[in-house]
Amino acid sequence: MEKNNLDKKHTLNSQPDEDISFDDFDELINPKPEDTDFDHILEAALTRRGLLKGVMAVGSVAALGSMGVASLIPKEALAAETRFAFDAIDANTLDDITVPQGYSAQVVTRWGDPLWSDGVDFDHATRGTGESQMKAFGDNIDGMEVFAHGDKTLMVVNNEYTNIKIIWGNREEGKYETDDDVLKGKMAQGLTVVEISQADDGQWGVVKDSPYNRRITPDEPMAITGPAAGHDLVKTAADPAGTTPLGTYNNCGNGRTPWGTYLACEENFNGYFSAENEEHEVSPELKRYGVSAKDWGYGWASIDERFDVSKHPNEPNRFGYVVEVDPRDPASTPKKRTALGRFKHENAEMVINNDGRVVVYMGDDERGEFLYRYVSNGVFAPGAETDSLLEDGKLYAAKFHDTGAGEWLELNPETAGMANMAEVCVHTRIAASAVGATTMDRPEWVAANPKAPEVYCALTNNKNRGIKPNAGGDLTPASGPNPRDENIYGQIVRWRPNGGDHTNNGFAWDLYALAGNPKLHTDLNAGSDNINENNMFNSPDGLKFDSNGVLWIQTDGNYTNAEQFEGHGNNQMLAGDPVTGDIRRFLVGPNECEITGLTWSPDKRTMFIGVQHPGEKGNSHWPEGGDAVARSAVVAIRRDDGGLVG
Ligand code: FEO
Ligand code: CA
Ligand code: CA
Ligand code: CA
Repeated sequence: MEKNNLDKKHTLNSQPDEDISFDDFDELINPKPEDTDFDHILEAALTRRGLLKGVMAVGSVAALGSMGVASLIPKEALAAETRFAFDAIDANTLDDITVPQGYSAQVVTRWGDPLWSDGVDFDHATRGTGESQMKAFGDNIDGMEVFAHGDKTLMVVNNEYTNIKIIWGNREEGKYETDDDVLKGKMAQGLTVVEISQADDGQWGVVKDSPYNRRITPDEPMAITGPAAGHDLVKTAADPAGTTPLGTYNNCGNGRTPWGTYLACEENFNGYFSAENEEHEVSPELKRYGVSAKDWGYGWASIDERFDVSKHPNEPNRFGYVVEVDPRDPASTPKKRTALGRFKHENAEMVINNDGRVVVYMGDDERGEFLYRYVSNGVFAPGAETDSLLEDGKLYAAKFHDTGAGEWLELNPETAGMANMAEVCVHTRIAASAVGATTMDRPEWVAANPKAPEVYCALTNNKNRGIKPNAGGDLTPASGPNPRDENIYGQIVRWRPNGGDHTNNGFAWDLYALAGNPKLHTDLNAGSDNINENNMFNSPDGLKFDSNGVLWIQTDGNYTNAEQFEGHGNNQMLAGDPVTGDIRRFLVGPNECEITGLTWSPDKRTMFIGVQHPGEKGNSHWPEGGDAVARSAVVAIRRDDGGLVG
């Protein structure tokens, strides 16, 4: 661990006093302008919004009730027979996991559980140390996958971030006090690779001391591959060649490849950088990504100088990528795949196109940022070399037209007005702004239907829609798949590539679901026709299809169960039928958590989900109950009759 003599005062003082989300932190850096030309443009746009009636009028699309929003789902299909094998559960606000009758949920492993027998059990009083955390399961589970490897079952999990007030809840102010506190927070992030096994009674647990167990921390040596490798923008004092960065962190969603590797996606990497001088001004390019002199309260620069952006301004250019990890080889070097662009990556949904080319769909989760697609130049063939498939290809950003058509706009030096592809791959947001991509309501997970050439993306919410431009100055009037100003509920957009060809630059789109509250509203905020008082939710985030073509929807939203969110209860997971549009609630999480990271056992008889940030505001003791510290955990769900669950 690199140490330095930085005065910690500036970072100590920068720890936020209030509970604040990553997104709200970025808002502080880019506050809404008082009164701008945009306000006047918006006013004009709003008065023109008769056009909403024409929005999403795709082919034979039926109108979603009287709201003027249309869908590819035929209305009569909503009443069709269900394909779901469970009875819907009600919303609730219990500090527990609730699943339907005939299913059982079991905690597999939790934040702080040791992966090796020389580790120590989680200490609820101290919440561990830097060293105990290095040898233990990380915090705040997000994307995850399970891989069959010979007779072994390997689980890879993103540990997205850590709750400041929980991990440092042993400190009077709920903030770090020592270098080891900061180190503990740092080591709680990154990835956990762990072998798991199932006992005779069906219960899952971790295999301590497995040679596959591994923590990939923010200090793990990595490689940069693709167009940005070795470019000046990624060179630093510690790595003058610009090829060997250290670490990954804030890994949100994920992807998996058919060649057996895991894709970890770097999301809110900006909030870990700071500067001794809080007046330090970062470059406009760093500002576009929300990097500033003030960090999010983790204090990493106080123990690791590379996170001081005034001293190492290229260090942030080495984060914001998709990282490929091979869980079968614990000695393998993770690879940052710069060809897939640099932004706040949510997940990376890979599809092998009919012609063998690799297509990866990716969202940039920030208000008013974009949706992306990568298409490899080479083709995937089982057993053949795969390294170049994520290094050599074309990158695109999506443009949605109000007609229901859409197109992928290529990002290259000509279209972006940049010197070379390396710049496009480092300053990807700026390239996408240059081509006029559509500003979106925070694209979270993308999921491709295995039964049909169609792709879905959760647009979680966007309180800035129609209110302020994105950090690049792109306007955000309500239109297309983002039809509501100050969107508090979110929606799920889907598109079908022309000709069923994922490499085609044209597509047709509609809204699969517009979340809302039909108990309170009759306008657009009631949601689409497939949302009712029994299945309503807000802020869709995780999306994944199972092998039967059922779309699973996980939420990360407002869990107050009050006011605009009355009746929504705690965050949850629902199942959606892509054909009929039917949506049914399957699971409700404990208090103040979000539900993340769906994956299945190789035999599809267990479903694994993540419970992230239970008790983030102090009101949960899940999973242990009593006075226990609330801990993020992996949960296994099985049918009591041992049947298939995915
Ligand atoms: Fe980490 Fe966009 O959720
Ligand atoms: Ca997410
Ligand atoms: Ca989210
Ligand atoms: Ca999260």
